[in-house]
Amino acid sequence: MSEKKVPADTCVLVTGGAGFIGSHTVVELLQQGYHAVVVDDLSNSSEKAVDRIKAIVGPEAAANLRFYQADVNDRAALEQVFTDNAIDRVIHFAGFKAVGESVEKPIEYYTNNIGNTLTLVDVMRAHGCKSIIFSSSATVYGEPDSLPLTEESPKKPATNPYGWTKWMIEQILTDLHTADPEWDVVLLRYFNPIGAHPSGLIGEDPKGIPNNLVPYVAQVAVGKREFVRVWGDDYPTPDGTGVRDYIHVMDLASGHVAALAWMNGRTGVEVFNLGTGKGSSVLDVIHAFSRACGRDLPYQIGPRRAGDVVANYADCSKAEREMGWTARYDLDDMCRDSWNWQSKNPDGYEG
Ligand code: NAD
Ligand code: WQD
Repeated sequence: MSEKKVPADTCVLVTGGAGFIGSHTVVELLQQGYHAVVVDDLSNSSEKAVDRIKAIVGPEAAANLRFYQADVNDRAALEQVFTDNAIDRVIHFAGFKAVGESVEKPIEYYTNNIGNTLTLVDVMRAHGCKSIIFSSSATVYGEPDSLPLTEESPKKPATNPYGWTKWMIEQILTDLHTADPEWDVVLLRYFNPIGAHPSGLIGEDPKGIPNNLVPYVAQVAVGKREFVRVWGDDYPTPDGTGVRDYIHVMDLASGHVAALAWMNGRTGVEVFNLGTGKGSSVLDVIHAFSRACGRDLPYQIGPRRAGDVVANYADCSKAEREMGWTARYDLDDMCRDSWNWQSKNPDGYEG
C-alpha cells in the first residue's frame, strides 16, 4: 500500500525524465518540493535537458534531483537505482513514441515499451513500491463514436504497434492491480501535447523530420522546412482539416503532480483524460503559430494520412472533479511557447 506522504518526504522515480513531457514534469515536481530520480537512456533526448532543468529550478531544488543514464529494461541498473534511493512512487514516461516507426519496427517497440514496463513493475514489486503513474494516450480511443471522449468511451483496436503498446500496458497494469490490490495505478491519457517551458530552456526536440504537426510547423517557422503539408481538407469538420485537443506541456506537467497528490495513500486503478476539452483544426494551429511568429506560414493541402482519426477532444471533467486539475493555457499560449523554444534553439539541444 502506498503511504500518505508530503512532497518533501516523497521520492519519485521518473523514467524518461529527460524527454519532452518528462523534463517539464521534473521541473514541476522539484518546484513543488518533491525529490526526483530520473532514469533515461537518452535514446531520444539529451543530458543537456537535465542541466536545463537544474538551471530553471535553481540550486536548492536541483539538489533534490538525481540522474541515471540507464535503460529501464536493464534490470541490474534499475535494481541499483532502487537500492540507492528509497523510491516511493514512479512516473513512467520511458518508451518509443513514433507511430510510423512502430509500423516499421514492431519488435523494437514491443520490446522497449512493454518489456521495460514489465522489468520496471517487477523491480518495483521487489522493493515494495506499488505506486505508478503511466503515460497513456488518447490513441487508445481510436476513431470516436461520439465527442467529447470521456474515460468511459470505449477503447478501440489500435491501428499501429505504438498504439497497441499503450493499450496493452494499460491492461497489464490493470491485471497487476487485480492480482495484488495494494497497487496504486493511474493511467493518464494525454491528448496532443505541444508547447514548451516559458523560459525557452526546455522543449520538444524531435530527431529527423518531425511527424507531428506542431514540431513541423515550428521548423517551417524557423526556416528549416519550406511549407507545412496539411494532411487532408475533406474531413467532416468545420474547415475540412483534422481536429485535435492540443494541450500545453506545462498543463500536462501539473496534471502529473496533481495525480501524485490525489493518489497519495490510495489504491486502485484510475484513468484520467488530460486535455483542454477544446478541438482545434490543423488550419487553426497554422494560423495560431503564424500569429506567434509574426508571419503567415506557407502550407499546401495534401492527401489524408493513413490511420488518422477525423476529430477528437476530451471531456476532462473527471480530472477537475477528482484531482482539482484543469488546463490553463490556450492554443495561442502553446504556439507562443513552442515558438519561443524553437527560435531560441533552432537545432534543439544540439545547437
Ligand atoms: P520523449 O521521446 O521525448 O521521451 C521519452 C524518453 O524516454 C526519452 O527521453 C527517451 O530517451 C527515454 N527512453 C525511451 N526508452 C527508454 C528506456 N528503455 N529506458 C530509459 N529511457 C528510455 O517522448 P514524450 O513526448 O516526452 O513522451 C513521453 C511518454 O508519453 C511516452 O511514453 C509517450 O508514448 C507518451 N505520450 C506522448 C505523447 C506525445 O504526443 N508526445 C502523447 C501521448 C502519450
Ligand atoms: C495532428 C493533426 C494530422 C502533421 C499523434 C499520435 C498519438 C499521440 C499524439 C502519442 C492530424 C495533421 C500532422 C503534418 C498535418 N502520440 N498533420 N501535417 O496524429 O493526432 O497524434 O501524436 O501517444 O498517438 O498518433 O498528432 O501531430 O501527428 O497530427 O496536417 O505534417 O495534424 O493529419 O490531423 P496525432 P499529429
